[in-house]
Amino acid sequence: MPANKMTIVGMARSCRKQIFVVSGEYMKRITKAVFPVAGMGSRFLPATKVSPKEMMPIVDKPLIQYAVEEAVAAGITDMVFITGRNKRSIEDHFDKAYELEAELAMRGKDELLRIVREVTPSHINCIYIRQVEPLGLGHAVLCAKPVVQDEPFAVLLADDLIDGDPPIIKQMVGVFKQHQCSVLGVQNVPREQTRQYGIVSSVPLSDVLEQVNGIVEKPRPEDAPTTLGVVGRYILTPRIFDHLEKVQAGAGGEIQLTDGIAALMREEKMLAYRFSGTRYDCGSKLGYLKATVALGLKHPEVCGEFAAYLKSI
Ligand code: UTP
Repeated sequence: MPANKMTIVGMARSCRKQIFVVSGEYMKRITKAVFPVAGMGSRFLPATKVSPKEMMPIVDKPLIQYAVEEAVAAGITDMVFITGRNKRSIEDHFDKAYELEAELAMRGKDELLRIVREVTPSHINCIYIRQVEPLGLGHAVLCAKPVVQDEPFAVLLADDLIDGDPPIIKQMVGVFKQHQCSVLGVQNVPREQTRQYGIVSSVPLSDVLEQVNGIVEKPRPEDAPTTLGVVGRYILTPRIFDHLEKVQAGAGGEIQLTDGIAALMREEKMLAYRFSGTRYDCGSKLGYLKATVALGLKHPEVCGEFAAYLKSI
């Protein structure tokens, strides 16, 4: 019987792990999200010389806040940030801003006070781990092992801003609940862009789900097995850590997450999920501009005037 059809007969909580005991079997829940934010952001220099790429705003919110809000919407409570040098402002952003809050309260700016306070809902834990050197995305994810331990977890790359309803990681947590295996967020990408993605080969299971049977990092268009590209949303089982520990650094000395996923896929079921939503690659200038326009046109405060302005030019 599929796990989601079983009756929940009790819930065990130990060491902050939430495991539903389901008729004698264990159905794990995703409570932790890992946000690798230790990259160099070199495509956005000089803007990222001292400020993190993930703190660049789309309209009035930094990229990292969009990602954290997505995780909160999925019921995730522990936010694990993998940070590096020059990333202090991310910690400050999710910390309480006593002076600012006092000043806003004193001036009676209640709406702004509410906005500032809502950045970090009170039931959320923020945990920061330092990646001493940017040795690659795989290495960044491995840095989360001491906190994540033996639980399945989500990974969100904040520079992939995905506008979706329900939020993408919530959609993927739903897939995990049903299948209890790793899930990769994927979308079809133009063949000439396969060099920018991990590309999966897979067997369709439904309109939105594929069983992954191969993954290759940044293939040349002529070598790509498909055009199904992995984007910055993952649900991974903790076994990934064992594989990442064994992955050798590839080109540029980076430990690739794709190599860990390839090894994991050989021993565990892995799904690719064609999410519904619009993705903006905010790690690139063009994607960042597109996101600014799209979300500006949706922003309640400025949408009308902004639309009129765009029309006028
Ligand atoms: P990217 O390669 O897109 O980000 O990594 P980058 O290296 O910061 O940007 P460019 O290519 O130099 O412009 C995807 C995500 O993984 C994180 C980045 O912060 C980004 O969110 N990352 C990457 C790490 O946390 N550590 C790393 O060693 C590498």
